[in-house]
Amino acid sequence: MTIGIDKIGFATGRYRLDMENLAQSRGVDADKFSKGLLLDALSITPITDDIVTLGASAANSILTEDDKAMIDMIIVATESSIDQSKAAAVYIHKLLGIQPFARSLEFKEACYSATAALNYAKLHVEKHKKAKVLVIASDIAKYGINTPGEPTQGSGSVAMLVSQNPRLLEIHDDNVAQTRDIMDFWRPNYSTTPFVDGMYSTKQYLDMLKTTWAEYQKRSGKTLADFSAFCFHLPFPKLALKGLHKIMDKRLPDRKKETLKANFDASIIYSRQIGNIYTGSLFLGLLSLLENSNSLQGGEQIALFSYGSGAVAEIFSATLVSDFKKQLQTNRKEQLNQRQSISVADYEKLFFEEATLDAFGNANFANYATNDFYLSAIKEHQRIYEAKHG
Ligand code: HMG
Repeated sequence: MTIGIDKIGFATGRYRLDMENLAQSRGVDADKFSKGLLLDALSITPITDDIVTLGASAANSILTEDDKAMIDMIIVATESSIDQSKAAAVYIHKLLGIQPFARSLEFKEACYSATAALNYAKLHVEKHKKAKVLVIASDIAKYGINTPGEPTQGSGSVAMLVSQNPRLLEIHDDNVAQTRDIMDFWRPNYSTTPFVDGMYSTKQYLDMLKTTWAEYQKRSGKTLADFSAFCFHLPFPKLALKGLHKIMDKRLPDRKKETLKANFDASIIYSRQIGNIYTGSLFLGLLSLLENSNSLQGGEQIALFSYGSGAVAEIFSATLVSDFKKQLQTNRKEQLNQRQSISVADYEKLFFEEATLDAFGNANFANYATNDFYLSAIKEHQRIYEAKHG
């Protein structure tokens, strides 16, 4: 029996901010973003989008009615929670029409928690052979206007359906995790944007990668030679490229090194256009790899490095199922190109708009472009979601 990801879906903000425009507006050389960070555009969400609408839309793109009848757990991994108490998964359960006897909950540890959610999903499916678990990594990454992190913002959700005998990716049992209590990036409850020690965070990311990879190799007996691709958490693609260089084994044959680099380039195509989506970033890299690699075949192994500030890191691996391509979309780039390009002034208004509640806790919103679901209003402090028709 194998367990892993049977289907993977994605949704992102319907507005696009081009890095060239941001660079010009901030008085920065455009090459700093395109070459220094390897970013070309960011996905921007309006106030009518949040982790619920993005997550429901990502899942809606892959689920059939049969899936909805079999899903008995929904986990939303996020660090952009909309409520301190109620889990986003509960809203998503209703929006998608999942059968009622399901468990719905939320996981948190910065960008890492979707990896833990996958582990929990895997354990559940192992014990319940017909069950399916919906894991959704959903976030909106906001650092604030004119901050060092601003060019690395983004928004998006990755939805993964975990089952026995998956048709996409079999996940192995070789996970190695590491925890370090550090203050590289954190967001106290009273702040809408994170506090960041940017340079320190990049150093920690690379050191957690190096040390977790060393331990993973020791425990699993595997080396880079066993893998056709290495996916990284992608706060911005340039940091992951440094990660690839850090773990590259110089003794590998040139052909192997070229394959790893070509697959790395395939894995950052979407993030270059979207920015950081926190919990979903690693899995957006995986999706980009699977949809864009020219060489990957069934039976080949992929390693994954998950990193969440604070910090927790984990390395695990998976094997591609033969015919995995049948589980993937072919028009993702067109979808990304259909996003509406907006000016820097419009991005500043759109991305940072806050709900103005009246004395009774009501707010209405303008009409904005969203995916399959949107936040239509807040009534007496309750968030009201609706499906878009047509
Ligand atoms: P910065 O001010 O852009 O840093 O901040 P910089 O001045 O070092 O420039 C960045 C790169 O651009 C450098 O490349 C420059 O040389 C290059 P490098 O030397 O590092 O290879 N550059 C140029 N290249 C070409 N032409 C030019 C040019 N000028 C400069 N003209 C920083 C960078 C990462 C600090 C900032 O973006 C930031 O604070 N980001 C947010 C934090 C972050 O993403 N950290 C990553 C690790 S932590 C993590 O991954 C967790 C996270 O996802 C959150 C979570 O877990 O919840 C963030």
